[in-house]
Amino acid sequence: MSYRHKETPRSRRVLPDVVREKVRPPLAVVLGSPAEVAHCLSFLDGIETTCYQMDLYQAERLQAELAKQQTAATVVTAADLWDLPADFQTVLYLPARAGERALKIDMIEQAFHILRPHGTLFVWSPYETDSFFAGLLKKIFGRAHTSYLGGETVVWGRREGDRPRRRHEVTFQARIAGGPPCRFLSRPGVFSYGRFDHGARALVETMTVHPGDWVVDLGCGCGTNGIFAAQRAGTTGHIAFVDSNVRAVALAERNARNNGVADFHTVASSRIEGLAEGRFDVVLANPPYYANNAIARLFLARSHRLLKPEGRFYLVTKQAQEIADRMREVFKNVEALMHRGYTILSNTPGQGIRKK
Ligand SMILES: C[S@@+](CC[C@H](N)C(=O)[O-])C[C@H]1O[C@@H](n2cnc3c(N)ncnc32)[C@H](O)[C@@H]1O
Repeated sequence: MSYRHKETPRSRRVLPDVVREKVRPPLAVVLGSPAEVAHCLSFLDGIETTCYQMDLYQAERLQAELAKQQTAATVVTAADLWDLPADFQTVLYLPARAGERALKIDMIEQAFHILRPHGTLFVWSPYETDSFFAGLLKKIFGRAHTSYLGGETVVWGRREGDRPRRRHEVTFQARIAGGPPCRFLSRPGVFSYGRFDHGARALVETMTVHPGDWVVDLGCGCGTNGIFAAQRAGTTGHIAFVDSNVRAVALAERNARNNGVADFHTVASSRIEGLAEGRFDVVLANPPYYANNAIARLFLARSHRLLKPEGRFYLVTKQAQEIADRMREVFKNVEALMHRGYTILSNTPGQGIRKK
């Protein structure tokens, strides 16, 4: 695969004619950044459209972008694309450049099932030559057509007949500090697919959680950190799993149940809303660091409100200085511990935590 026109993102390119001419309503647009999706729809003149997103934060940004451009489209957020009814004549998938390979396979598999008979899936790939999608569509749709358009590729296939649904998922096992092992189900599109993240391990090996503690696993992914916290909080503790990615929330719920977490609840929210303020003893955070650290800053501000006055906050990062500065705007005390190549920032002079 090669990518040549780095300087011209899809959000500023003309929707290829081969797509424009063949699109038939109703249309589903799968993933894509808010700017890309809104830009695509500006070429499609009021065609009935449903936009699928897996993350509430992205979905809300897309809704705002569509409103700005006065484009009418329905935005749906769901754990699975095939949760949408099989009612689309056309599906347009906008895979991310350098995106997760397993997610691409998963989305193509699922796109098949939301198409009406003889409906068409288009993949608008940002790569100049893209044999990956051509091979994948051939496997799933039986035939694939490809148009190389100088700096990008469009691949399409038609749904004929039916095929069994195949879920892409990997189960991994992990344990901390000689405790009992836990098994976690993970799926593409949710951090971190198929493995226990090293930063997450550094975080949970550092945290102090007491029996009976109420813990928030903020940006929970598939729920590893909250589930390890539950081993210490015990049957009288409570865990709140929060994420903006609805597939992550569904996984955390399933993993918490399968690993015997006694008392927990899940919250799907992009603004960390719907939790009791001042009620929690511990917040655990392994935030993403995109968008100029906007999410990390949101995690800090909300954590402060969720914690009891003496509550403990733990955040794992590789950008210690920058995040510590932000943390000082919110918490009086900021302590740092280096562990496994990561920095764990905390508001508590906890066991082993020292000033940096
Ligand atoms: C680096 S991952 C950490 C996942 C897991 N806690 C771990 O340690 O492996 C960050 C998580 O934050 C979630 N996230 C991103 N933006 C969010 C927001 N605005 N509100 C809630 N969660 C968010 C992502 O979906 C992702 O699951």
